Formats: sequence, C-alpha cells, structure tokens
Amino acid sequence: AAYENIQTETRGRVGIIRLNRPKALNALCADLVRELGQALDAFEADANIGCMVLTGSDKAFAAGADIKEMKEKTYQDVFLQDFITVGWEKVSQVRKPIVAAVAGYALGGGCEMAMMCDFIIAADNAKFGQPEITLGTIPGAGGTQRLPRYVGKSKAMDMVLTGRMMDAAEAERCGLVSRVVPLAQLMDDAIATAEKIAGMSLPATMVAKEAVNRAFETTLSEGVRFERRTFHATFAFDDRSEGMAAFAEKRKPGWKHR
Ligand code: HXC
Repeated sequence: AAYENIQTETRGRVGIIRLNRPKALNALCADLVRELGQALDAFEADANIGCMVLTGSDKAFAAGADIKEMKEKTYQDVFLQDFITVGWEKVSQVRKPIVAAVAGYALGGGCEMAMMCDFIIAADNAKFGQPEITLGTIPGAGGTQRLPRYVGKSKAMDMVLTGRMMDAAEAERCGLVSRVVPLAQLMDDAIATAEKIAGMSLPATMVAKEAVNRAFETTLSEGVRFERRTFHATFAFDDRSEGMAAFAEKRKPGWKHR
C-alpha cells in the first residue's frame, strides 16, 4: 500500500513502521493514524512477520496529537467521533510483539503511543512528556493510566501536572524505557531486538505478551492464576515439545510456528 504519512518496510521477519510527517514533527493527524491502523493490520495478518517496530524520525517519534486539527473541535465532535479511541487503540491491541524505537520528541499522544507498544528502546536524544496540561487539557490516549504503571505515581503526577519533558537518562532510570542507545545505533538495535523476538516461536511470544499485559489488568492472585493456566496451555504447542527436546538433544530448535 502507498501511504502518505507513514512508511513501512520488512526486514526478514520484522515489520517496520515509520511515522513520516516531517513538516509537523510527526503530529498524529487523523490520516496518519488511519494509515498506521492499516499497516498494523497488514503486519498482524502477514504470516512472515513475527515482530514489529514502530519508529519516527531522528528529531521526533511524534510531537503529539495534531493540535491544529484538534483546536476547533467541539465536545459534540470528540464525543460523537469517540476521538482518539478509533485507530489509536489498535497499537495496544495488536497481538504480535511491537517495539517502540524512540528518537527525539515523544510528547502527548506521541508518548502515549510509545507506551501502547510492548516496550520502548530510546535513543540518547529522546524526550518524553505529557504537555497537554499546557494546552488546557489532559492526556487522552491512556497517558494518565499507562504512565503511572510504567513509572509510578510520583513521577507520573510530576509529568502530567507540570507538562515538563524528561530526557532519555531519566526515562531509563524510572523504567519508562527498557534501554537507551546512541542515536546512530537506534534502528540497528531495535531491529536486532525485534529479529531476536521474531526468531522465537510466534505462539509463545504471543502468549508471553498477553500474560505480561494481564499484570496491568488484574490482581496478583488472578494474574498468577492466568499465567499458570496459560503456561499449562503452552504444553499443547508443538513448539514447546520441540524447544525442550532441542535443549535435551543439544541442538537448535526448529520452530514450526514462526
Ligand atoms: C500540530 C505540530 C505539533 C502538534 C509540532 N507541530 N507539534 N503541529 N500538532 N502536536 C508543528 C509546528 O506547528 C511547526 O509547524 C512544526 O511542527 C515544527 O515545530 P516547531 O514548534 O517549530 O519545532 P521546535 O521549535 O523544534 O519545537 C518542537 C516542540 C514543539 C517542542 C516539539 O513543536 C511543541 O511543543 N509541540 C507541541 C507539543 C505538544 O503540546 N504535544 C501535545 C499535543 S496534545 P510550522 O507550520 O509552524 O512549521 C496531545 C493530546 C493527546 O497530544 C490526547 C490524545 C491523543
């Protein structure tokens, strides 16, 4: 498909989606989000893809929802359109693993979109923030809920109430990102990480993702019960037998389902 606001590329079993609206620092306008949804659907349906990477440019992952597009909207408009739900939620709903590779600004909806991915790898020039308060509004794509789950209440309140940015070092310290790498290495590292994930048994990575996400939706005892049942269920996977047999036979597993 020919997209106007994003670019897609395949590297082996990795599907890369690059937000590409340089004139607005990748501000997430409706057309961009629609195209993003199409690209996610396409990779999700493609049996040759085992992991996705969502990225932006060196200057901006995304500077937020498109403020110019939002500014004239009324309450009726946003309510009737269910503004932000449609399209955006797809990022958090894909079942295959998705890694965010963030360089430059990840602000407002950009930070929220990165947090919808399974984890974030940041370049050393990354800047994260929820500046909505400075526009007289609040995060609307999950920021008030996901940021505290990533970084805890104190830092989340600090970010959401002041609208300040945090740099990559602070983001790594507080657990918003899994690691920080030099900007020049960001894509190589993100793709290598995604390739590693895509080299595992796909059903195993999909249930692993589902189980970790469960931790944010339920109590500890229910979450552990979910994990236990899901772990038991992996014994129905051909690849589970293969993985354990390969270990015992000192050879590499030949996954059937990748
Ligand atoms: C629309 C945007 C934009 C945005 C930048 N641009 N961010 N357009 N929506 N969110 C446009 C600018 O208007 C400008 O266009 C061009 O991109 C370059 O931006 P500059 O501001 O000139 O660049 P710079 O001086 O380097 O400053 C970078 C910046 C600043 C610090 C990131 O652009 C900024 O503060 N942007 C807004 C960040 C923000 O408030 N995000 C939250 C949005 S609300 P022109 O035409 O002048 O060249 C949000 C709500 C989420 O996300 C709720 C649900 C999703």
